[in-house]
This record gives sequence, C-alpha cells and structure tokens, in this order.
Amino acid sequence: MTRIPCIAGNWKMYKTVDEAVETAAKLKEALHNVSGRDIGIAPPFVSLVPVAEVIKGSNISLIAQNVFWEDEGAYTGEISPTMLKNAGCTCAIIGHSERRQYFGETNETVNKKINKCLDAGLMAIVCIGESLEERESGNTFSVLETQVSEGFSALSPDQMEKIVIAYEPVWAIGTGKTATASQAQEAHAFIRSKIEGHYGKAIADEIRILYGGSVKPGNVDELMAEKDVDGALVGGASLDAGSFARIVQFSS
Ligand code: 13P
Repeated sequence: MTRIPCIAGNWKMYKTVDEAVETAAKLKEALHNVSGRDIGIAPPFVSLVPVAEVIKGSNISLIAQNVFWEDEGAYTGEISPTMLKNAGCTCAIIGHSERRQYFGETNETVNKKINKCLDAGLMAIVCIGESLEERESGNTFSVLETQVSEGFSALSPDQMEKIVIAYEPVWAIGTGKTATASQAQEAHAFIRSKIEGHYGKAIADEIRILYGGSVKPGNVDELMAEKDVDGALVGGASLDAGSFARIVQFSS
C-alpha cells in the first residue's frame, strides 16, 4: 500500500485575482520539478478561472474551497460542482470548520455535498476536527466518530475511494498552535480505524488523511514523518509561494 502524499493550500478569503495569478505563477515555476506528490491550491472562487489558465499543464491542481449540493437552480450566491469542474477544478474542500462555524454547515450538508461532488466527477477533501472545548472535555474521539459516521453516511466504497480526509483540530487553525506530531498521529490512526470499521481494511489503508492547523515549513517534516499523516491542508503558510513550495518539498 502506498499513499501518495498530498499537499493542498487553502487560500481562504485572501488574495485579489491579480495576487492569486501572481502567486500561482510563482508556484508553477518553483514546483515544476517536484514529482511523487499531489499538489493543489484553493484560491477564492473569483480567481479559479484565471488561476486555472496559469497552472494549465503543470503538476498543480485546482481546488474549490466550497461547493453547493445542486447542479443548478435558484440558489443565489452558490456554485455547483458542475460549474467548478467546468472552471478547471478537480476537487473541492467540503465541511471546513470555518464553514461549519460561520455558515451553518453540518454533517448532513457535508454528506449532501460529498454525494453531488463525486457525481459530478470532482474529488472531495472532507474536513473534520474537534474544537478546543471538545478536546478539553475529553470528547475528541466521539466528535470525530460522529463526523465520520454522519458525514460519510451511506457512501459506497467506490465513493470513498475519491475522498481525502483532512483532520483539522479547530484549536490549531490560524492560532500558531500546531497539534504535536503524536497528537496528529493519534487522531489520524483513530480516523483510519473508523474508516476500516465502516469500509474494510483495503479502503482504510488507501484513504489519505491530511493534517491541517498551523502547518509551516518548520513543522511539516515532523508531521509528515508520522505513519498515518498523508499530507497537509495548509492555510496561512500557503499564501506565500516560497513557504508553500518548501512545505510541498517536505523531507521524507
Ligand atoms: P492555518 O494553516 O492558517 O492554521 O489554516 C489551516 C486550515 O484551516 C486549512 O484549511
């Protein structure tokens, strides 16, 4: 079993179109020799098309930060998986904690989004993770278990093969407070064991689990050395091309 490491940059609500294009061009140049790693960037929606143009033919894929669960219709402000695919995306982030916290996303909407995304031929990076309060009250594993069982409810093994999980402890996002490598490993191993319980060993062995939360050039090597950490979903440190390029080229 080999899981290809995956490093994805989530630019969140940062960068104008011009800035996004400039950063994408720098990354294309800096990473053109890198192989054996899946690399992706998730700019804001308005920059998807121009960034797609810049990274065309490169080893960087285009990721959407969010997606809606219908193909089209009267849903002001939403974007469908088909539209994202047509704009050049190969993947969408679903259930990021900021969407759960500020925009009412739930395990149920996460499940609907996963289904629609996969139907449209997009892969999904599905985010799960506990808050500080949940960790401190000893509920980390029960929260993760519920997010897995409800978020992935009734998905088929074929669908699971097109999913990447991102474990992002909410207390580590944008705080500079990274989970230690062993805390990440413990959570990842737990998540993998739950996937095994639902889908069997072959799928559990294959599914990639990324860590997200204050990943930086200075801590990525240590995190990636853990056996169940298969990549990183990087926020702040992905905004600078030099720092993201270094993270992508973590030493293995
Ligand atoms: P930071 O790397 O800024 O902590 O953000 C992590 C994240 O939320 C990636 O999706």
